[in-house]
Amino acid sequence: MRKNFGAKAWTYPQPVFIIAAYDENGTPDAMNAAWGGISDSEEISICLSAGHKTVKNILTRKAFTISMATAAQAAACDFVGIVSANQVPDKFQRAGFHAEKASQVDAPLIRELPMALECELVRYDPGTGRMVGRIVNVCADEAVLDETGKIDPEKLEPIVFDPVHNTYRKLGEIAGHAFRDGMQLK
Ligand SMILES: Cc1cc2nc3c(=O)[nH]c(=O)nc-3n(C[C@H](O)[C@H](O)[C@H](O)COP(=O)(O)O)c2cc1C
Repeated sequence: MRKNFGAKAWTYPQPVFIIAAYDENGTPDAMNAAWGGISDSEEISICLSAGHKTVKNILTRKAFTISMATAAQAAACDFVGIVSANQVPDKFQRAGFHAEKASQVDAPLIRELPMALECELVRYDPGTGRMVGRIVNVCADEAVLDETGKIDPEKLEPIVFDPVHNTYRKLGEIAGHAFRDGMQLK
């Protein structure tokens, strides 16, 4: 027997994307977003409400970064998801974040979050909230790379959002190998 829960925005896992942009004066803002994902090989789509200060900033500067939230910064990442720069203009600093300009786009990286996508705005529909970004670069601090130079999730400790319990969870262990384990059933 299955239990039906009705129509809910529930999937496992949901991302914890920290989206950051500069305003017209160069002040950084950031927000938390769970409703997003890859939509092409160099494209990401996220559902963002038009009233958010971050959205206004992205429409002004046509660029943004998406940092992966981490276990070490879970409280700060939640804070930027529950407080708006529309009311608290120094929200970014209050989160304990420090901005440095991204190398490829006109948007801030967050020093405390070691992995980020640098994106250019492709389009935004205020009616549906759908924002599409072109990924022009992925960058990661050397501190979270393994000995072969790849991003090491054990070091990064990205977190995911559990929309059923409103919790953030760490990634678990390896459960299989993609594009490989299914071969045995071919
Ligand atoms: C776990 C979590 C997930 C969220 N996901 C989204 C989302 O996908 N889209 C969205 O528009 N807002 C989302 N929010 C809400 C924004 O992050 C929040 O309204 C934020 O304060 C906006 O900040 P700003 O006005 O400074 O840009 C989420 C918040 C949390 C805590």
